[in-house]
Amino acid sequence: MSRSAHPAGPRHADVLPEGHWTAPATDLNVLDEKVWSRTVTRDADGALTVGGIEVAKLAEEFGTPAYILDESDFRARCRAWADAFGADADVFYAGKAFLSRAVVRWLREEGLNLDVCSGGELATALDAGMPAERIAFHGNNKTVAEIERAVGAGVGRIVLDSFQEIARVAHTAQRLGRRQRVQIRVTVGVEAHTHEFIATAHEDQKFGIALADGQAAEAVRRALTLDGLELVGIHSHIGSQIFDMAGFEVSARRVVQLLAEIRDEHGVELPEIDLGGGLGIAYTSEDDPREPHEIAKSLGDIVTRECEAAGLATPRISVEPGRAIVGPTAFTLYEVGTIKPLEGLRTYVSVDGGMSDNIRTALYDAEYSVSLVSRSSDADPMLVRVVGKHCESGDIVVKDAFLPADLAPGDLIAVPATGAYCRSMASNYNHALRPPVVAVRDGQARVIVRRETEEDLLRLDVG
Ligand code: LLP
Repeated sequence: MSRSAHPAGPRHADVLPEGHWTAPATDLNVLDEKVWSRTVTRDADGALTVGGIEVAKLAEEFGTPAYILDESDFRARCRAWADAFGADADVFYAGKAFLSRAVVRWLREEGLNLDVCSGGELATALDAGMPAERIAFHGNNKTVAEIERAVGAGVGRIVLDSFQEIARVAHTAQRLGRRQRVQIRVTVGVEAHTHEFIATAHEDQKFGIALADGQAAEAVRRALTLDGLELVGIHSHIGSQIFDMAGFEVSARRVVQLLAEIRDEHGVELPEIDLGGGLGIAYTSEDDPREPHEIAKSLGDIVTRECEAAGLATPRISVEPGRAIVGPTAFTLYEVGTIKPLEGLRTYVSVDGGMSDNIRTALYDAEYSVSLVSRSSDADPMLVRVVGKHCESGDIVVKDAFLPADLAPGDLIAVPATGAYCRSMASNYNHALRPPVVAVRDGQARVIVRRETEEDLLRLDVG
C-alpha cells in the first residue's frame, strides 16, 4: 500500500516549506488582479467590493460561507474564448467545473457550446434551454439510460470512450431511428504536467481508447461501419491545470496522424478534432496563465501545420475549457470563527466552511491565496493556515498564507479563484449545508444556487 504525507504537513513555525510561493507581502491590502475576478476592488474604506457591492453587504444578505460569482467577468471570459477561436472553431464550456441553469443561459447568450458528462448535467443544460445540438456528451461509463436521453434529445455529439460504448450508442441510435454524430476519445500517451489525479492522456488510466497497439484505429473501423453512428472526429483531453502548451502540441500531432491514417485506410477525412480542456489559471501570484488568444493561435498553428504536412484539409477545431472560464470568476467568502496561535508551530484560522466547499486542497494539495476583505489593515503579516470546521485535521482550505496579525473573529476573509471544481465538488460531509452561489453584476446580487437547508438534508433521509 502506498502512503503519502499527511496533509497537515511538516511542522514549522514562521518558516515556509522550501520553494513555497508565499513571501510576507509588503502590503496585504493589495489585491493581485491575476487571482481576483475583474470587478473586484477595495473601496475607500478598504472593504472589498465586487460588481459594485461590498462584501459585508453580501455576507449580511446571503450569509457565509458563500461563493460569490462575478457574472460580467464570466461573460467576458466566454466572449474572449469565443472571439479567440473565431467562427471556424467551437468552444464547449466544460460544465463539470460549475454548472447551473443561470450559467447555461449565460453560455447560450454568449454563443458558447456546452460539454456535459452526466445525466444530471445534461438535464440541467436541457432544462435551461441549451439547444441540444450545442451539447457534447462525455463520460467513460455512460449508462444506457443516459445514452438514450442524449440521443433522444438530439445532442450535437457523443464522445465515445470505449468499445462497449461504440456498440451501445450505435444500437440506441438505431433503435430510436437516429444517426448520432460521435467523436472517439483517444488517449495519446502524453503525460501532462499536473497532479496525477487530473492528468488523463497517459496510458494507464480509465479514459478513452489508446492510440497505441492500433486500438483507436480499430475503434474508428467499427464506428465507421455502424449505421447508427456518424463519426465526425477525434477527441483528446490531456489533463487539467496545464500551463505548458507542449502537451497539447504532441496531442494535436498524434490526433492529426490518426486522421491521416483514417484517410489512407478508409478514404474519409474526418472534419473535426477536439483538443479538450485543461488550461491552467492563477490560484496564486506565482501562476502565469495564458490568454485565450495565445492558446487559440498556438493550437490553430499546430493543427494547420500538421495537417499541411499530412496533406489533409484543416479540420474544425474545438476546445473544452472549464476552469479557465469559471475558475477566476468566483471567490469563497468566509467568516473567521476562531484564531488559534500554536506557540512555535503556526496560527490556525478557522472559518465557517472547509473541505465540504473546497475539497481541492485536501485532494490535490492545491494552493490558494486568501485575503482579509471586510476591511483593510496596517498590521504586520502573520503566517496562517486557514482551516475549516470539519472533524478532520486534513480539513485545510489554504495551507500557508499571510493575513494581518490583527485578524479577529467576525472578520470576513475570501479565497479567490474558487469558481471551478469547488461548488461542483462540494459535499455534505458532517452534514454541512452546501453554500449558495451568488451572482453579482452591476450593483445587483442574486442567488443562482441557493444555500442548502436542514430540510434539504432531512428530505433525502427517509427515516
Ligand atoms: N474536457 C474533458 C473531457 C474533461 O475531462 C475535462 C475535465 C475538461 C474538458 C475541462 O477541464 P478544465 O478546462 O476545467 O481543466 N476536479 C479537478 C479537475 C478535473 C477535471 C476533469 N476533466 C480539479 O479540481 O482540479
